[in-house]
Amino acid sequence: MKRRIGILTSGGDCPGLNATIRGVAKACYEKFGNDVEIVGINDGYYGLINGLCKEMKQSDFSGILTTGGTIFGTKRTPFKKMQIIEKDNVDKVKSMKETYKKQKLDCLLTLGGNGTHKTANLLSTEGLNVIGLPKTIDNDIWGTSVTFGFHTAVDTATDVIDRLHSTANSHGRILVAEIMGNKAGWLTLYSGVAGGADMIVIPEIPYDIEKLAEACEKRASKGFSIMAVAEGAFDKAEAKMKKKERAKYRAEQGLTTATSRIAKQIEEMTGCETRVCIPGHMLRGGSPSAYDRVLATKFGVHAAELIAKEKYGYAVAMINEVVSENKLIDVAGKTKFVPADDQIVKTAKDLGVSFGD
Ligand code: F6P
Repeated sequence: MKRRIGILTSGGDCPGLNATIRGVAKACYEKFGNDVEIVGINDGYYGLINGLCKEMKQSDFSGILTTGGTIFGTKRTPFKKMQIIEKDNVDKVKSMKETYKKQKLDCLLTLGGNGTHKTANLLSTEGLNVIGLPKTIDNDIWGTSVTFGFHTAVDTATDVIDRLHSTANSHGRILVAEIMGNKAGWLTLYSGVAGGADMIVIPEIPYDIEKLAEACEKRASKGFSIMAVAEGAFDKAEAKMKKKERAKYRAEQGLTTATSRIAKQIEEMTGCETRVCIPGHMLRGGSPSAYDRVLATKFGVHAAELIAKEKYGYAVAMINEVVSENKLIDVAGKTKFVPADDQIVKTAKDLGVSFGD
């Protein structure tokens, strides 16, 4: 039985995409031999809409285990616009189904985050055979304890925080590191704990600036402080606002993220000099860590097993430390937030780390 498999990567990239693609491909060639054909779809769902497909050879999957980015390229094609006909008059869902049919695909593998899984589920309900694979440095996909890309980003963010210690110490400053993560604070939390941050500020635990200033003053005898702030953090007043209202309020105040505001307010309140460090997309770049290479490979191989069983409409996941899968319909539209009573939050608090709550 011939199998023709389409693969795409969608949304923000992360280390481990290529390792996952390689895992799927190698396991498929191993399982199905000459009875498998792999089609690479460029630029995520945009490529599926526009038919940007390329026939892959087995050798195309060699030498990519350690590389960052994605060999297929990626784009953000927001889910909320998928079913809307825009100015270009393109029916995106219809076009994706047409590409799938034209390419004679037996199944489609979508590597991506929350938005990607929503569209994957949509395509699955439209009758396509879809398997999702959980990618994101944010680690916020529902139903999996870990996503590939997360631990590499934790390592990179930890390195950033490590480097801030010595300069903060030399100058007696408060160094505020802004860590990616718009909705969920997993990356800030893990790298904050690993990097020995004194304060950790995440969206799930809205902060009170007075509490953060108090924590800085408590640290004053040490001469410096390190604060890890998630880019999506907000204070207790903003927590009461809806997303749009918060964006409007910030625009009016000339603010982008919470980080620069926290730094400015803390400097005014404590008299201690502050500096902001934003590693930004550095956290998404580079070679995957050994952990992520193993995880990505396990996930990729599991996807090949699902293909062999023709088990479609599922998202690969790590459940109770075993690689398994959830129904796409159960994953779509949900976000895995940091529970305020998560063990790592408690661990940090027990060390004296302030969350500003
Ligand atoms: O979803 C991953 C992520 O890196 C988030 O942490 C961040 O908020 C966002 O993507 C940035 O997206 P972009 O690369 O499109 O600016």
